[in-house]
Amino acid sequence: MSPSTSAPGVRQADFRFRCIACGDLSEAASQDFRCAHCGDLLEITYPRWKEAEPDAEKLKGAWRQRRLSQSAVDLSGVWRFRDLLPELGDEANAITLREGNTPLYELPQCARITGVPRLFAKHQGMNPTASFKDAGMTVAATFARRAGFQWVACASTGNTSASMAAYAARGGMRSLVLVPDGKISWSKLSQALDYGAVTCQLRTDFDGCLRLLQELVLRAPVYQLNSINPFRLEGQKTLAIELLEQVDWLAPDHIIVPGGNLGNSSAIGKALLEMHELGLISRLPKLSVIQAEGANALVRTLREAGGKRLVSVQADTRATAIRIGNPASWKKAAHVLEATGGACEQVAEIEIAQAKAEIGAEGIGCEPASAVTLAGLKKLVKQGFVKREESVVLVLTGNLLKDPDYTIDFHRGDLFKGTGDEGASAALNSLRRPPIVLDATLDAVMRTLEQAGKS
Ligand code: F0G
Repeated sequence: MSPSTSAPGVRQADFRFRCIACGDLSEAASQDFRCAHCGDLLEITYPRWKEAEPDAEKLKGAWRQRRLSQSAVDLSGVWRFRDLLPELGDEANAITLREGNTPLYELPQCARITGVPRLFAKHQGMNPTASFKDAGMTVAATFARRAGFQWVACASTGNTSASMAAYAARGGMRSLVLVPDGKISWSKLSQALDYGAVTCQLRTDFDGCLRLLQELVLRAPVYQLNSINPFRLEGQKTLAIELLEQVDWLAPDHIIVPGGNLGNSSAIGKALLEMHELGLISRLPKLSVIQAEGANALVRTLREAGGKRLVSVQADTRATAIRIGNPASWKKAAHVLEATGGACEQVAEIEIAQAKAEIGAEGIGCEPASAVTLAGLKKLVKQGFVKREESVVLVLTGNLLKDPDYTIDFHRGDLFKGTGDEGASAALNSLRRPPIVLDATLDAVMRTLEQAGKS
């Protein structure tokens, strides 16, 4: 293996766990990653930054320099930023699939549709298992193995399980997956199976799977890899660091992200606040979270309870990745929304379907949960929260191929059958490109081509 680079004077950080409610600091965390005193969630903090603040220009230089290296940790778009992550120790410890390194795309057609010319997409669906989960999983799986665990486990709407199973397999660990029966897409389930996970389809929803996992980890020697695990969020921070590097550290005005269990928004927000504190960026982008109307726990928590207590919901949406009614990281997300001045909105199923087709028509595609970002942006522009001259980055969390059934149902016109939304759905016919079954004759294909040319 070729040696990795490091810049003189830039040290990787050692860390503590800090309770987000009572502020208790500890060197170790219990298996459920909850505070021993008050039971709230933990986050990772770096006390040494206070004593010897890392030098922003040196960090930027080190990260640039590592792009020329061929070592595994430098080729990872997560570990390349290891100076802002928990200390890895020996670089050979990292379980990596060269995650991160995801593209930032322009969205010219969606820019015209929304009237926001400076519109971009950070496509996390371009990760090794095709979702943003890989950025967190490389860090959390690495620390699971370092702690000596042979088994890792998660509850999932699909993407976490695919990612966890892959990283466990790469790291020589066994994995246990708990997913809601019949409510995750086959393409996600098939990944977990292929990567060798023991996969249990439980007769409950995601929230039920997560509750059960919380009890399991206190009874069995399995390490939990849901986003309650603060190592996951540290890895997912790098999405934002990499994004800021891609725009030469000139912060966009807005970053918009889908909200499910609310780990990713919390991680991105933490990264923005840390980067600001360390002087890597001179102003904070506003971080906004968008949820499906049928799974709108954070929206209701902020509107009905002023962000003081969780308003859980019975979740229901075709965007199955965010079909979550009792989000674990709601407090962390509420905090970063407030700290960055972001908004929280909800969008209807029809708006999600339309936005997904519009992103697809840009030639990049995404899964339904990711498309809530564009649907939400349209609302935020209408409300005047996002101004047309501002720059906006949508975080596309998963790949188009994660849920092919949804896409096929949409293009065939079947997605909204029997839902009462048929009328609104018909208005989207110009976006539909259903497959056409023909006799295998030149004439038939020529006629189709001619007709398509007129539309
Ligand atoms: N987008 C996709 C594609 C997801 O898979 C998820 C969550 C989210 C958005 C929401 O992110 O939970 O951090 O707010 N998927 C989970 C899973 C929960 O099990 O794969 P979040």
